[in-house]
Amino acid sequence: MMEALKSSSSMEFSERLSSSVKEVDKIIRSYLPKVEGYQETVMDAMNYSFMAGGKRLRPMIMLKSYKAFGGEGRIIEPFMAALEMIHTYSLVHDDLPEMDNDELRRGKPTTHIKYGQAMAVLAGDGLLNFAFETALKAVDMEPSQEESLRILKAMKVLSGKAGIYGMIGGQVVDVESEKKNEQLSMEQLIFIHENKTAALLQSALMIGAILAGASDEDISVLEEAGRHIGVAFQIQDDILDVTSTTEVLGKPVGSDEENGKLTYVSYNGLEKATEDQKAMSAQAVSILTKLKDTKCQNEHMEFLIELVESLVNRKL
Ligand code: IPE
Ligand code: IPE
Ligand code: MG
Ligand code: MG
Ligand code: MG
Repeated sequence: MMEALKSSSSMEFSERLSSSVKEVDKIIRSYLPKVEGYQETVMDAMNYSFMAGGKRLRPMIMLKSYKAFGGEGRIIEPFMAALEMIHTYSLVHDDLPEMDNDELRRGKPTTHIKYGQAMAVLAGDGLLNFAFETALKAVDMEPSQEESLRILKAMKVLSGKAGIYGMIGGQVVDVESEKKNEQLSMEQLIFIHENKTAALLQSALMIGAILAGASDEDISVLEEAGRHIGVAFQIQDDILDVTSTTEVLGKPVGSDEENGKLTYVSYNGLEKATEDQKAMSAQAVSILTKLKDTKCQNEHMEFLIELVESLVNRKL
């Protein structure tokens, strides 16, 4: 009863976060494919990796950005599921023997360990393609003409940020960086982080705002905030690869060193990495705070800011 009387903003952030994870999880899982037909193994493998867990950070950011800019309908939902599918596919392929060669993900055996390499490649392909099939379900939700244009704009961002000028581009340079740390520059390292990790986080913020009808100017501001959030997020990922444990992370630690990877930590040391991670996150917070003060004075933007602040000290 007391719980019900608490206003949402007076609730502890951790409580609001876990209720948001539940809400997001319920939405995105409803878009998974049915396991059926002669090709059912691929659906099973797709759903396995998707349902293994995960923080659901990207769809959560997308939903909050949508609401912060006044979005109220359901067209955001297929896009939330689509982005988590693309993120999950990137992990399935990232773990493959010819990529990072990792055997544990989200606390479970990786997809290629459970289903074999061929099926892991196909499940990743399946998730990527199904992401676009899913996002386009927004078209079936009887959007107005204005919303239809927003859906197109959102598709452009989703496809671009996932592709060779986004996540895939970053993964290419990441893979090529192996075993040649000393030849790579800080500029290339930032390129890797901005693309392999920040691009999808940028798309989360941008698509939420686009579907809610935000201005192009606000969308570029969000793109900039997303860049800082993403680089900080990947620095912390690199830090945890050195300082955490497999039990806590649900994925192997020491993977970067084993692969001779260029990481923010191997390049700059732990201390500077931690410092820079905090500074970049603070930049993102200041951009979002300006948006809150001028355009989005609401609990959703407040939540987004708190979420970004909480990532600085994330252990997972
Ligand atoms: C892992 O992303 C890959 C990176 C971009 C660092 P997350 O840390 O968001 O992974 P999940 O979704 O919670 O498993
Ligand atoms: C993740 O980089 C980038 C992706 C696009 C998947 P990492 O290779 O460091 O991610 P983890 O540590 O395996 O999750
Ligand atoms: Mg990798
Ligand atoms: Mg990896
Ligand atoms: Mg990592």
